[in-house]
Amino acid sequence: MPELDLPQRQATDTLMLTGFWYRALPADRVHRNQLFKATLLEIPLVVGRDRLGQPFALRDACPHRGMPLHGGQFDGENLECPYHGWQFDVHNGQCQLIPSLTHDQTMKVDRIYCGNYACEEHDNFIWVFIPDTGPPGAGFTERAEPPDEAPQIEKFSDKYKLAYLQAEMPVSIDHGIIGLMDPAHGPFVHQAWWWRTQKSIHEKKKNFEPIPNGFRMSAHTPSSNSAPYKLLRLYADADSITTTIDFVLPNVRTETIRAGKYWFSSLTTVTPITRSQCRIDVVAAWNIFRWMPFGPELLKFVFAKFVEQDRHTMEMQAEGLKHNPHLMLIDDADRPAKWYFQLKAAHLEAKRTGAEMKHPMTGPVTLKWRS
Ligand code: FES
Ligand SMILES: [Fe+2]
Repeated sequence: MPELDLPQRQATDTLMLTGFWYRALPADRVHRNQLFKATLLEIPLVVGRDRLGQPFALRDACPHRGMPLHGGQFDGENLECPYHGWQFDVHNGQCQLIPSLTHDQTMKVDRIYCGNYACEEHDNFIWVFIPDTGPPGAGFTERAEPPDEAPQIEKFSDKYKLAYLQAEMPVSIDHGIIGLMDPAHGPFVHQAWWWRTQKSIHEKKKNFEPIPNGFRMSAHTPSSNSAPYKLLRLYADADSITTTIDFVLPNVRTETIRAGKYWFSSLTTVTPITRSQCRIDVVAAWNIFRWMPFGPELLKFVFAKFVEQDRHTMEMQAEGLKHNPHLMLIDDADRPAKWYFQLKAAHLEAKRTGAEMKHPMTGPVTLKWRS
């Protein structure tokens, strides 16, 4: 039985992966011409929108003497440091003005940058790309651009509803993620008469396959012991409902449920805030129940309940983890967690050597457990 290296003991660069997009803030909380604080991977950020509504993210520390920039003046274009008034373009971090310079001082102001990050807005979230090397762009270099776009929810029709939920959890990113993919806690943590009870626990068999940077629980008919799926089957008047669940590094879980012309899609992320704190953001899109006034509320209620149960559980778990207990992962229920750690290790190894990442799974695998 492999022991689990306690995430709190890991170095931050093996605990929290750089070179990826992370969700910073819900888009509807970030208003024009205003500044908001956020933390990602222990990096303090100031996030905002310019006067046209374009989001931006800067490191919340002035490259001059480290003053946090979130307290500065922002005119919708440039941000002025509250200490000595240096001004920075919020989109590329380039310094625009150093007020203390005299006419004959020829210092090249535009060679200076404050740390700045690529930003994208999708599905009601502002995503920030956290690159591999230190404070991006801070000092005298421009930032490097991300190799790809931020993840988006897959949608299967033009009209749909969208909702999000978030919860902060006082555990490391690793515990947050393996908690999210853990199939065995359901009957104990998520009991409810309308969902499932401990008595409904039964043996399950699911097929998994490797996908780039992650793994997929192959399209399957969802568990028969949950009432919402039974309802959905009736409602959609479809013979089959299929669910696909993917996990990809560093932290993305997507779930797609399709029943005839109806669909439900979610993209959940667990974001490292600090080494001992993470945040779960669930964003869901669906075209089911669109005409029913209580549909979205009901769905949000069900999800909120779930997320709250997970949050509460991890809060209690954090108590136990304080004292560095020995931990273990067992087969088959903890196999997804093992894959997660193996994927992470393979990713880091590939980065270190420059070789192609060696996927820990060589082909499809069937896992069995009771839940
Ligand atoms: S610390 Fe920001 S201008 Fe000096
Ligand atoms: Fe859960």
